[in-house]
Amino acid sequence: MKKQSNLKRLMSYAGGHKYLTYASWILSVISALLALVPFICIWQIIREVLNTAPNFSEAQNLMRYGWSAVLFAAVSMIVYIGGLMCSHISAFRIAANMRRDCMGHIARLPIGTAESIGSGKLRKIVTDSSAATETYLAHRLPDKAGAIATPIGLLALLFIFDWRLGILSLIPVILGFVIMTKMTGSRMEQKMKEYQNALADMSNEAVEYVRGVPVVKTFGQTVFSFKRFKGSIDNYEKWVIAYTKDLRMPMMFYTTAINAVFAFLIAGGIILTHGGVTNELLLNLLFYVIITPVISTTLTKIMFMSEDGMIVNDAIQRVDSVLNMKPLTETISPKMPRDNSVVLENVIYSYDGVRDAIHNVSLTIKAGQLAAFVGPSGGGKSTMANLISRFFDPKFGRVLIGGVDIKDMKKEDLMNTVSFVFQNSKLIKASIFENVRLAKPNAPKYEVILALKSARCEDIIKNCRMALTPLSVQKAYICRAVNNKE
Ligand SMILES: Nc1ncnc2c1ncn2[C@@H]1O[C@H](COP(=O)(O)OP(=O)(O)OP(=O)(O)O)[C@@H](O)[C@H]1O
Ligand SMILES: [Mg+2]
Repeated sequence: MKKQSNLKRLMSYAGGHKYLTYASWILSVISALLALVPFICIWQIIREVLNTAPNFSEAQNLMRYGWSAVLFAAVSMIVYIGGLMCSHISAFRIAANMRRDCMGHIARLPIGTAESIGSGKLRKIVTDSSAATETYLAHRLPDKAGAIATPIGLLALLFIFDWRLGILSLIPVILGFVIMTKMTGSRMEQKMKEYQNALADMSNEAVEYVRGVPVVKTFGQTVFSFKRFKGSIDNYEKWVIAYTKDLRMPMMFYTTAINAVFAFLIAGGIILTHGGVTNELLLNLLFYVIITPVISTTLTKIMFMSEDGMIVNDAIQRVDSVLNMKPLTETISPKMPRDNSVVLENVIYSYDGVRDAIHNVSLTIKAGQLAAFVGPSGGGKSTMANLISRFFDPKFGRVLIGGVDIKDMKKEDLMNTVSFVFQNSKLIKASIFENVRLAKPNAPKYEVILALKSARCEDIIKNCRMALTPLSVQKAYICRAVNNKE
């Protein structure tokens, strides 16, 4: 039931491409059934050889059977490749759409939310979780369809060949299934989740740690800063070992069971031949000996599939955890602020819902007034500044700019009204010019340079030799600067 809804969720990202996914399943089933035919051909060759022995020249059909085996194997492979092509096109589209939806949603989230989750964690959710669905859709589901078709095909063959031997070869399969169900139960799913969480935490801490290296070096805080990173590694270790240990015994029994088909067949063969070896029985035994490897590969495929099912379930939940975060409310009738005054009215904000970071703050900053928040670390200065820029909405009270509640302002208008410099500034991997222009994508070059100049960044530009401006624009800019002075 749950699996199905997962699949439905995934398919909702596929659009018209979902038919390709279905086509890949059908092709995979056809390929799996075709792949059984060469085994029958080989069996026919053996039968003919046994029946004509020792006058092998009487065996007329060997070539025909041999070529049929090759032909069916080749066709089966081609059909399988065709199926994979279909499933890949659809899977990549789905992964891309998931990423696009996630990023679109993250862009609408309060800046504070993304900031507090951590960019490492968000990156992992957006890229890795969608990638996990890609393997599942492109490989596992078509393989699953094929893996279901194979035992059904084998069952049909049971009636053609010796049913007693058929049943013997199916016993390990059933054993394997039972052990596998144990391995993929709900308890394991929980463990798997913990393991994924630990992995995400470790990745996040690693990113934060590397980012913080300059600070760490400056203040010589190696041990302290390393503690959190090390903690996350230790935690990861704990879960990996727990997970592995839990799987050790079932995995051992499982591997033994699916590789024990021969043991069952040989034992069965010995018992059945007590009444004397007949050509027919020997032939049938040979057939099952030939086809046995198919059984174990099929089962192994199915096993990895259920593990992947768990991964995909987890991936969807993670993607949903991002998509379910509430974006900031957008007003339908936006208002423009009268001036640049800032007013806080009885503002309360709490990060954790337990302790207020700021409690009942009211203040007025007049337009053009220079104000500074001064106080002890952890006093709530950044929180107040963040509330004014609407990184998040206050739990209680209002923030007004120019007499307008900032919730009633259009996001673009608010962003054009407030400017902020982060404590931990982030630059994108592009030129300084492009970093500055992020704030106003259609700003002409001279305006960017003017902004840099007012921020006293001329030295940086000179040193970086960011010769971005064509001479004509530079001239215009110099003219403007001169005119402004006058
Ligand atoms: N993202 C967050 N999640 C949970 N709690 C937070 C978060 N950011 C800040 N806090 C808590 O809110 C309180 C106020 O923090 P804030 O960052 O506003 O203080 P600050 O005055 O800016 O401190 P500093 O001078 O160190 O920058 C502190 O107790 C802090 O631990
Ligand atoms: Mg601060």
